[in-house]
Amino acid sequence: MNLKRTLKRIVKTIQSRLDKDLKDFEKSYPLIDQVPGFLKSPQQERWFFTTARKAPDNAVIVEIGSFQGRSTVSFALGCVGTQKHVYAIDLFEGDNDMYGVGDFQNRFVHHVKSCGVEAHVTPIKQHSLEVAATWSKPIDVLFIDGSHEYDDVKADFHAFFPFVKKGGIIAFHDIKGKWEGVIRFWNETQASGLLEKVGAVSSLGYGTKK
Ligand SMILES: C[S@@+](CC[C@H](N)C(=O)[O-])C[C@H]1O[C@@H](n2cnc3c(N)ncnc32)[C@H](O)[C@@H]1O
Repeated sequence: MNLKRTLKRIVKTIQSRLDKDLKDFEKSYPLIDQVPGFLKSPQQERWFFTTARKAPDNAVIVEIGSFQGRSTVSFALGCVGTQKHVYAIDLFEGDNDMYGVGDFQNRFVHHVKSCGVEAHVTPIKQHSLEVAATWSKPIDVLFIDGSHEYDDVKADFHAFFPFVKKGGIIAFHDIKGKWEGVIRFWNETQASGLLEKVGAVSSLGYGTKK
């Protein structure tokens, strides 16, 4: 009888926490939606927000490929009121093809400020592998969305994987569609058994480090 009541209370607590996360995300979404980016909206932004919310206190979130900051602010708005922090790695150089040309670092900083989350974000304007070479912090959440070439995705994963805590989350963007390099590496990663609790939100694939 007591066990039944305890379970009921636990389910109710979890449900009210999920409801609160959802409500807070809905309040934050207009801010996120001002930032240009490449996400399948709003489900993927919601995943970033709630993943940051659920991460441990003082969580370290590392993002490879921030562009103008859409995924960054989605994570960072989920960090508000905590010591959690997002390290946003990007060359911020754009290109003549997909991203266009411009001062992407300035745009990124402007978007982070317009969402009021600058205290939770450190931009790192450097190649991801150079960052990894001197990285030392244990990572709670790693999001890989830099170069989509197979060798680059693989290199980013292996460079940062050793820093991800056991039970930490690793996510890849573009595991579906035309992104053959990401799809191939995502399939290999799943087969490798390095991750558990694997799931997907549209083209975002994620798992937990075993
Ligand atoms: C698809 S965009 C990221 C989109 C972003 N996550 C969003 O929410 O809109 C990929 C970004 O990765 C950056 N990039 C590609 N290879 C990189 C590397 N090796 N190191 C750092 N940044 C890289 C590009 O400059 C580009 O801005």
